[in-house]
Amino acid sequence: MTDLPTPPSQRLDGRIALVTGASSGIGQGCAVALADAGAHVVCAARGTERLNETVEAMTAKGWSAEALPLDLADLDAMEAALERRVFDIVVNAAGTTFPGLAFDTSPEEFDRVISLNLRAAYFLSTTCATALRDAGKPGSIIHISSQMGHVGGRERTLYCASKWGLEGMVRAMALEWAEYDIRVNTIAPTFIRTPLTAPTFARPEQVAWIKDKIKLGRVGEVSDIMGAALYLASDASAMVTGTSMIIDGGWTAD
Ligand SMILES: NC(=O)c1ccc[n+]([C@@H]2O[C@H](COP(=O)([O-])OP(=O)(O)OC[C@H]3O[C@@H](n4cnc5c(N)ncnc54)[C@H](OP(=O)(O)O)[C@@H]3O)[C@@H](O)[C@H]2O)c1
Repeated sequence: MTDLPTPPSQRLDGRIALVTGASSGIGQGCAVALADAGAHVVCAARGTERLNETVEAMTAKGWSAEALPLDLADLDAMEAALERRVFDIVVNAAGTTFPGLAFDTSPEEFDRVISLNLRAAYFLSTTCATALRDAGKPGSIIHISSQMGHVGGRERTLYCASKWGLEGMVRAMALEWAEYDIRVNTIAPTFIRTPLTAPTFARPEQVAWIKDKIKLGRVGEVSDIMGAALYLASDASAMVTGTSMIIDGGWTAD
């Protein structure tokens, strides 16, 4: 009889996952995907109402989840909340944007976006990777970047700066942490319908631009991102680090 290869499991039973931005949009979708695969999911965000509603809805499904109210941009609070925990999986989906011209960007807006999208992502990564390294455990750290971490976009200069920075950071961390079997990757979505993008989708000229650029002919939905999160979190991606899964319906192929 021929020995057939064993397909890798995408089950996450026994794993503990941290998902930031889990109370809304892409982060909520990733939390659901990981919990459905068997992980215990620690759901982090600032606002407790949407966070608790998310965790209640998840546990009502029979999944294992808990709420962790946290402002990720407050590095002292983040480190205090996380430093004693070891997460096998981290999905960092907390993020913000500034749809506007470079001409109109104030230093305060610059600091607001960079402090969450890049600074918090950097130190969340080092905090969680340190815990994994010290525990001698492998891990998978996944940042939700953007197609705007691979191309430029109109009225997206500050956002592009934050996501291109994130892409570079992930590649270098992947090199540094490969010896500990700590994998670091990004997911780079196109425009997805979430509360973050509601103002964009309310502008007809922006919708026309988006529809022209996405070759599959529709905008993205949260469910389009969930499979990538599951793949990068699981052993199915055991050989994948320092890269980006672009989920853009063909936008960046043009
Ligand atoms: N939607 C898109 O089209 C799209 C495309 C590409 C990439 N992305 C990226 O995907 C990520 C998620 O976006 P989304 O569209 O899902 O946004 P969203 O629906 O607005 O959700 C953002 C989540 O992050 C949390 N959050 C915001 N600031 C936080 C902070 N300082 N500390 C902790 N949690 C915080 C929010 O909860 P609280 O406000 O209660 O804290 C919420 O749970 C972002 O990084 C975004 O750049 C989105």
